Amino acid sequence: MTVEVRRARDEEERGAALRLVDTVFGGEQGIWPSADGREPDVLRLVAVDDDGTVVGTCRLLLDDGIARLGSLVVARERRGEGLGRALLGEAEREARVAGAACVRLNAQLPARGLYDHAGYRPVGDVFVAEGIDHVAMEKELARA
Ligand SMILES: CC(C)(COP(=O)(O)OP(=O)(O)OC[C@H]1O[C@@H](n2cnc3c(N)ncnc32)[C@H](O)[C@@H]1OP(=O)(O)O)[C@@H](O)C(=O)NCCC(=O)NCCS
Repeated sequence: MTVEVRRARDEEERGAALRLVDTVFGGEQGIWPSADGREPDVLRLVAVDDDGTVVGTCRLLLDDGIARLGSLVVARERRGEGLGRALLGEAEREARVAGAACVRLNAQLPARGLYDHAGYRPVGDVFVAEGIDHVAMEKELARA
């Protein structure tokens, strides 16, 4: 099965992505990051199966040369296939095209390995948000 990783094409895909975020963060972890009101401002990326199902997503908020990555999720049954890494790579490509110098994110500690492997470095101390340990991480983007 092929999976395409790209910007959400329409409101239907954006809605499916937000439902997936709510299923993963809300259902599995009891947190609701998509409800912060920033959705109209974000670049929403999706991983879409060849039958059109959204199986992964993340969002990018471009802010004065910094690209803030958030709500990276992959459907539980599709984890371990490289989709998280592919979404991260596409987000970095989009950030570079938009002229960002770096990508920043708040990594949940249990998922930190994903970002370590992709070249992110921790910035600052561990902090607790929504009852989960996090660390801020950052990656400088090479000029295109
Ligand atoms: C975290 C998450 C997005 C990873 O997606 P995924 O598609 O399973 O990840 P990938 O298959 O692309 O893995 C990429 C790399 O990260 C590593 N990795 C993935 N999840 C990891 C985890 N939880 N802990 C440590 N390493 C992890 C993989 O071993 C792999 O390493 P490699 O580059 O050496 O091969 C997914 O597990 C998820 O949705 N989790 C619940 C939501 C969540 O925690 N999101 C992150 C919030 S910061």
